[in-house]
Amino acid sequence: MPAQSPSPTVRPLTSGAASRAPVGIFDSGLGGLSVLRAVRAQLPDEAILYVADSLYAPYGERDDDFIADRTLAVGEWLVKQGAKALVVACNTATAQSIALVREKLPIPLVGVEPGVKPAALQSKTRVAGVLATQVTLRSARFQGLLERYAADCRFLCQPGHGLVQAVERCDVASADVRELLRGYLQPMLDAGADTLVLGCTHYPFLDAAIRDIVGDRLMLIDTSVAIARQLERVLEQHGLRAAPASGDSALPRFFSTGDGTHQQQLAATLLHIDATVERVQIPSRRTAAPDSQAA
Ligand code: DGL
Repeated sequence: MPAQSPSPTVRPLTSGAASRAPVGIFDSGLGGLSVLRAVRAQLPDEAILYVADSLYAPYGERDDDFIADRTLAVGEWLVKQGAKALVVACNTATAQSIALVREKLPIPLVGVEPGVKPAALQSKTRVAGVLATQVTLRSARFQGLLERYAADCRFLCQPGHGLVQAVERCDVASADVRELLRGYLQPMLDAGADTLVLGCTHYPFLDAAIRDIVGDRLMLIDTSVAIARQLERVLEQHGLRAAPASGDSALPRFFSTGDGTHQQQLAATLLHIDATVERVQIPSRRTAAPDSQAA
């Protein structure tokens, strides 16, 4: 689900500048490309800057302060590049640091959170699985979602250890990744689940492998379309929508703090976007030295 409410302190843009300014989309790595795909479908006239913080992925294995520090650094970098709004296309970063980042950045923000509410609304057996990172599952935001929506629906929460790393290496179908998934999903099936929340933006890229294991027995909840719609509402509210472009929509500009090879490969094979990836250094308080020099 999109995490709600834009920043109260929005930088004023003239309508002409607003229509030309890009939307920034950010993830710890390649998972946010599943959100980018939905945003391009929903808002084809918007220019997009996408940052993968791949040098520091996965965030799901990091401590809270590290995640907040990186989220803020990448957000500030995107503001400097002229982004008019920011999509934090990472459940882990949203869960851990959206409140802080919303306070500090002068542009509207849209975050993401696991689709616990739609799962509670749609599950017939009243048993649903949630696959997300350890950091997301233990966050106060996620626990708050469970308190709100799990009164009459049992949620089986499973950390997806190893899955982000697999997608980061563009492995979405190997025997190893299927084995990992089977170990996470079979107990959900055995417990009578009929719904699976994909609580990490990397996981929609594993949908074919998941389908091979669960068939039609689990309904998959992927919130990327809801996030794109929320972005549309936020841009409307702030008068920031791009003017309709004539011709095809522009390609997104891709940036990575890593070498970008897998980003280019995943974008080409799964999104059919052929665009080069620009390597960038985005130092932060926790990464200023020595490892940012490697970026
Ligand atoms: N795509 C991120 C998410 O949605 C992955 C987090 C990570 O890097 O572990 O949670």
